[in-house]
Amino acid sequence: MGHIAVVGVGYWGPNLARNFMSLGAFDGVVACDTDAERLSVVAKQLPGIHTCDDFAALLKRPEIEAVVVATPVRTHYRLAKDALLAGKHVLVEKPMTKTSQGARELIEIAAECGLTLMVDHTFLFTGAVEKIIEVTSGPDFGDFYYIDSVRINLGLFQHDADVVWDLAPHDLSIVNRVLKAKPKVVRAVGYSHTESGVADMAYIHIKYGDRLNATFHVNWLSPTKVRRMIVAGSKKMILWDDLEAAEKIRVYDKGIETQTIGIEDQRRFQVGYRIGDVWMPRIDQTEALQKVARHFVDCCRNGTKPICSDEDGLDVVLALEASDLSLTHDGRPAVITDKGPALI
Ligand SMILES: NC(=O)c1ccc[n+]([C@@H]2O[C@H](COP(=O)([O-])OP(=O)(O)OC[C@H]3O[C@@H](n4cnc5c(N)ncnc54)[C@H](O)[C@@H]3O)[C@@H](O)[C@H]2O)c1
Repeated sequence: MGHIAVVGVGYWGPNLARNFMSLGAFDGVVACDTDAERLSVVAKQLPGIHTCDDFAALLKRPEIEAVVVATPVRTHYRLAKDALLAGKHVLVEKPMTKTSQGARELIEIAAECGLTLMVDHTFLFTGAVEKIIEVTSGPDFGDFYYIDSVRINLGLFQHDADVVWDLAPHDLSIVNRVLKAKPKVVRAVGYSHTESGVADMAYIHIKYGDRLNATFHVNWLSPTKVRRMIVAGSKKMILWDDLEAAEKIRVYDKGIETQTIGIEDQRRFQVGYRIGDVWMPRIDQTEALQKVARHFVDCCRNGTKPICSDEDGLDVVLALEASDLSLTHDGRPAVITDKGPALI
């Protein structure tokens, strides 16, 4: 059945390793890290895991079938590229790479080598997001109006990522998938409250279509933790509160009905309000990473395209680059073109 290696066992990597161990789809799971202390902590936490401190040597081992890259984002491109060139399937953490050029290169290499390259957009595998996709894809939701997302808390300042690169990949991957659309125009403003100059709060507005937009508020300097998203449609509106233990999703039969009455210069626009029931659907509570691990294995073994594919990873990186561009130009809109983001 081969082995799988998780490279980078700091904060997030051990969660991936634990899930691949419990899945039982591999003969062995190897934790690889340059930090010996992290390896000894993980060896105690996860009895039975193998350890290794030499990534290059690991790639030469034929029994390694796949590699999970869970290191800081600046290293994703190099490690994923080396793994693909060594003939290993790759699951890379979000955000896929630091640049869209790097993401494009990885996509090409994976295609040329016939290997799976999947991005861990974990939230796509949560019961809440699966339910939002089910409701919004059904006949009763109507047309999308907008999505409004807030992801704020007193966050852990990162060394190689600002708050947008740290938190927004989650929301971008969710919104792209729910809307089944790609970001077109991005406007972002952000602020740093430390000497580092790294943005610790930002507001991003993304146009997905003529009247279809999403707004994202990400913040590491909030006194309280908020994880909320409103998905508004013409017939239903959804509120997702990820901090709710059980009733994370509420589907509201609320909205407006508009009509124009009168004739010629007497015409008036009238708004009627629809206030109906609220529904709290049951959602799957399985740990999302367990589903990520299973899906990755299925894709590797059957050669099927992941639901969070390398191209989806590129779309998120492009939106992050566009956001950077807009943010450094006081919120000027940046359009995402085939060649990458450009100011308009
Ligand atoms: N999907 C999610 O919900 C989620 C959540 C948290 C973090 N992440 C992502 O996981 C990745 C890691 O984040 P983290 O918070 O665990 O970081 P971390 O700094 O806690 O851990 C990174 C580990 O990688 C090791 N490392 C760095 N370079 C290495 C190399 N060349 N070879 C081997 N090991 C190396 C470090 O020693 C460290 O132990 C990031 O891309 C982050 O965005 C994803």
